[in-house]
Amino acid sequence: MATTLAPEPKTTHPTSSSQPATVADLEPEARIPAGPDAGDAPVLPQPVPATAALLAEHVTKRFTVDRKKAPVLAIDDVSLRLERGEIHGILGANGSGKSTLIRLVSGLLTLDTGKVEVFGHDLERDELAVKRLINRVSVDAAFFKKLSPMENLLFAARLYGLDGGEARRDAKAILARLGIAENRLGRPVEQMSRGMQQKVAIARALLTSPTLLLLDEPTTGLDPRSKLDVQAFIEDVNASHDATIVLTTHDLAEAERLCDRITILDGGRIVAEDTPDGLKRLVAEQYGQPPTLEAVFMTFTGRSLDEDIEEDEAGDD
Ligand SMILES: Nc1ncnc2c1ncn2[C@@H]1O[C@H](COP(=O)(O)OP(=O)(O)OP(=O)(O)O)[C@@H](O)[C@H]1O
Ligand SMILES: [Mg+2]
Repeated sequence: MATTLAPEPKTTHPTSSSQPATVADLEPEARIPAGPDAGDAPVLPQPVPATAALLAEHVTKRFTVDRKKAPVLAIDDVSLRLERGEIHGILGANGSGKSTLIRLVSGLLTLDTGKVEVFGHDLERDELAVKRLINRVSVDAAFFKKLSPMENLLFAARLYGLDGGEARRDAKAILARLGIAENRLGRPVEQMSRGMQQKVAIARALLTSPTLLLLDEPTTGLDPRSKLDVQAFIEDVNASHDATIVLTTHDLAEAERLCDRITILDGGRIVAEDTPDGLKRLVAEQYGQPPTLEAVFMTFTGRSLDEDIEEDEAGDD
């Protein structure tokens, strides 16, 4: 079994410290070819375009439930680009296509049309490479509930083909950062609170690096305290684990706090995409609305998120 970790992207990120320092260090195609009359003009280094962490182009997905009825167009011509290290929020009402998009990107559903690339690997042609780089954590994370956090992490490590000793060391460090006391590492996951279980699920996804984490409503249904805790953990993971994150949520404050960019879906289509500040400025300047994400959501979807999910504040179980 392969013991190598996921491959590094081919190009460097623009903010990476390993950015080429001189023209000679650049990839050949990144140099400007000297024209016939270029003379001794200095050859300026061109930035090497970074490989996107996630690239979706014209992705479409239909579901046929009843042959007598028209298929449901769950994802309609969606294109998206995430840079490495970004936290990208997907907002949308119930049924707008958030989970479908996440499941398409993670290879759980097949695309009808379009293409998806993860760190430069095509999802359809190079599924194994993509699956190594992607980790999905859904609202009800699947665990072996009778196993402990450590056992769950080591099991996942084996699935990824990671080296046992190294995986154990990494798992220990990650779990320690979760704030799980050493003497609890061996207890079954089912004895932990939902918030803690979500954190273990995210931790399990950190065993490969770089990684694209797909978090489908990671805080829905958590009590306010656990919610803040998981949010802080997501920020921490993003900053310290080279994790690029797609996050779906019904919580606008969460999106505002965590996300570098936000995409709003409505009926399977992207109706807005920008930084939180960019979106707020847009509704204020062009629609005369207050500069809030509530106003952004209302402007682009015609409804308020308050009308939406009800189980959101249901509390811990
Ligand atoms: N497996 C499926 N079979 C048939 N229809 C589906 C399937 N999965 C999703 N859909 C439909 O696709 C649309 C998008 O659903 P999706 O679950 O992606 O929405 P969502 O934005 O995640 O909603 P929520 O906020 O409730 O989680 C809905 O109309 C849904 O009924
Ligand atoms: Mg969903």
